[in-house]
Amino acid sequence: DWTMAEFRKTKIEEIRAQVGDGKVICGLSGGVDSAVAAVLIHEAIGDQLTCVFVDHGLMRMNEAEQVVSLFRDHYNIPLVHVNAEEKFLGGLAGQTDPEKKRKFIGGAFIDLFEAEAMKIGGADFLAQGTLYPDVIESVSFTGGPSVTIKSHHNVGGLPERMNMKLVEPLRELFKDEVRELGRELGLPEIFVGRHPFPGPGLAIRIPGEVTKERCDILRKADAIYLEEIRNAGLYDAIWQAFAVLLPVKTVGVMGDGRTYDSVCGLRAVTSTDGMTADIYPFDSAFLSRVATRIINEVQGINRVVYDYTSKPPGTIEWE
Ligand code: XMP
Repeated sequence: DWTMAEFRKTKIEEIRAQVGDGKVICGLSGGVDSAVAAVLIHEAIGDQLTCVFVDHGLMRMNEAEQVVSLFRDHYNIPLVHVNAEEKFLGGLAGQTDPEKKRKFIGGAFIDLFEAEAMKIGGADFLAQGTLYPDVIESVSFTGGPSVTIKSHHNVGGLPERMNMKLVEPLRELFKDEVRELGRELGLPEIFVGRHPFPGPGLAIRIPGEVTKERCDILRKADAIYLEEIRNAGLYDAIWQAFAVLLPVKTVGVMGDGRTYDSVCGLRAVTSTDGMTADIYPFDSAFLSRVATRIINEVQGINRVVYDYTSKPPGTIEWE
């Protein structure tokens, strides 16, 4: 009989056996997966673990504060908070290709973890919250021509020069199992129940060039959308909901003036593992309310559209 309590025990033994008396750096992304991985590893090896939260400036509204407070206040697990907004936004400047954006972000994470590892006199392992679906979707399919759908930021191994091995205790798990494990480890429900958030953050929800200004616009629209979803009691019925900011401007009218601003797309899907997904069928009154609020409250957006694409043929994120 397989339970999460047993999984927890077994994994703790495995982590201890793998790590020995080595040092581990764990990258926190702000999502559930890396948080669960970190708490599990901390239980296994205590202060041999250093958690690093890289704030790439591509987080949602107030998200960075929530992650830092979970680790420092709720768990008392030491956490290094790296503010790297300039590095990420600097490197993303002028980049519009989705895979180039993803690869730059993945590489920048590695650089920063490496720098933090140096500061503690070197680390032997890098821990990540990689899940089973991340592994599957980043590898090339066999048979037919070789296709990578998208390079998940934390899959694909480490550069040779690094000399660090990976610790990925969640590699066999699906999302619902990670949530169960998180509850088992005592993570607050508000954190465990959160919608998934991709490591590359808002960068893959801003097709085209990512700038601080566009991130700020998107954060506001996204926060309004999620607030309305929570107020309507729909949050837990949805796998993932988020706004995207399109690199398209359209003409509108506001009062007696002309506007020429960006289009915001709204996405909401149901899913059990993120590998397939159906659109969430909001009623039209709900969507109108969200659209009106976004257009009235967010400067820079004058049109809102709803994404009706399931996965497949769409992916959940837009890039
Ligand atoms: P897609 O867009 O591939 O997304 O249908 C499936 C699920 O994976 C999340 N996602 C990521 N998570 N790093 C992550 O940690 C990534 O690079 C990444 N890309 C997509 C996405 O949010 C969805 O839940």
